[in-house]
Amino acid sequence: MRALTVRPGVKGSVAVRDVPDPVPAVGDLLVQGLAVGVCGTDREIVRGEYGWAPPGRDWLVLGHESLGRVRQAPPGSGFSAGDLVAGVVRRPDPEPCGACARGEFDMCRNGRYTERGIKEVDGYGAQMWCVEPDYAVKLEPHLERVGVLVEPTSVVAKAWEQVERVGARSWFEPHRVLVTGAGPIGLLAALLGVQRGLEVHVLDRVTEGPKPSLVRELGAIYHAKDAEEVISDVCPDVIIEATGANELVLASLTGTSPYGVVCLTGVSPVGRRMTVDAGAVNREIVLQNDAVVGSVNANLRHYGQAADALAKADVSWLESMITRRVPRERASEAFTPQPDAIKVIIEL
Ligand code: BGC
Repeated sequence: MRALTVRPGVKGSVAVRDVPDPVPAVGDLLVQGLAVGVCGTDREIVRGEYGWAPPGRDWLVLGHESLGRVRQAPPGSGFSAGDLVAGVVRRPDPEPCGACARGEFDMCRNGRYTERGIKEVDGYGAQMWCVEPDYAVKLEPHLERVGVLVEPTSVVAKAWEQVERVGARSWFEPHRVLVTGAGPIGLLAALLGVQRGLEVHVLDRVTEGPKPSLVRELGAIYHAKDAEEVISDVCPDVIIEATGANELVLASLTGTSPYGVVCLTGVSPVGRRMTVDAGAVNREIVLQNDAVVGSVNANLRHYGQAADALAKADVSWLESMITRRVPRERASEAFTPQPDAIKVIIEL
């Protein structure tokens, strides 16, 4: 079968080539790959800056944002041939830490987890793949064109759960949320905020292209002004930071109303230094009982929440987030950033 492969650590090694067909282990689902999404992590892997091959070889099947159709499902698995599914990215470490042992592998404490398409296990960028039913989520049939968004949605479902759990340490009734960045994570975070009945503001740099109208179509408010100004005008109860940009991360830390929650979801490059008034940041966080929480990855519960959120969303809005669909044999073109692109997917 054809698969999208990469040699981790080797820039420019991404290629579509023949690899052996997958052989389902007892109990596994056999799935026909329909699409994979491309995110910043995939682009880092393709640049040779991230990613690990499975033990004993130097290449990895890329793709962790998956969508497929079940071809074979063992009886009693909860899945049937024809179901639309996505696979979970992370697997627990081999000797589970306390969190992994409780199904919270997204919170792994010892870093020995593996991730499909990223860390030591083949991903979903292939014509066929296998997955354990406990690491798969079923999607509504009407999500065929957009279900590939379930993995990034699971990441924001977890981020929202973190915000709510951190907020629940005292009385918490947020009204206004600011999402920084109108990329896929920011837009999906905004969607989940709107679904919660909140007043949602989204901050990005661009004034042209599809982002401003996508935000407005959600019923949210789009801002393309200076971050400090927007933050002080909006005075959000919650900030979901989805850029990883130093200036926005820092502005967020002191940007909420009292008892605010800031959830950081952007993975930033290291080494870009800034001068910070650490005293002012500390003072504000302490005197306002603010909380800052980092959030990455997602467990099966979050995939379920994501599947529900997508099922409730407007499919044509979700489709407009997918600004480019690249055919499998030209997959290597999908990793070159393009202006105005939001979500790029590869059709398998
Ligand atoms: C994925 C996460 C993963 C993280 C770090 C992100 O792009 O969505 O599932 O944990 O990269 O590898």
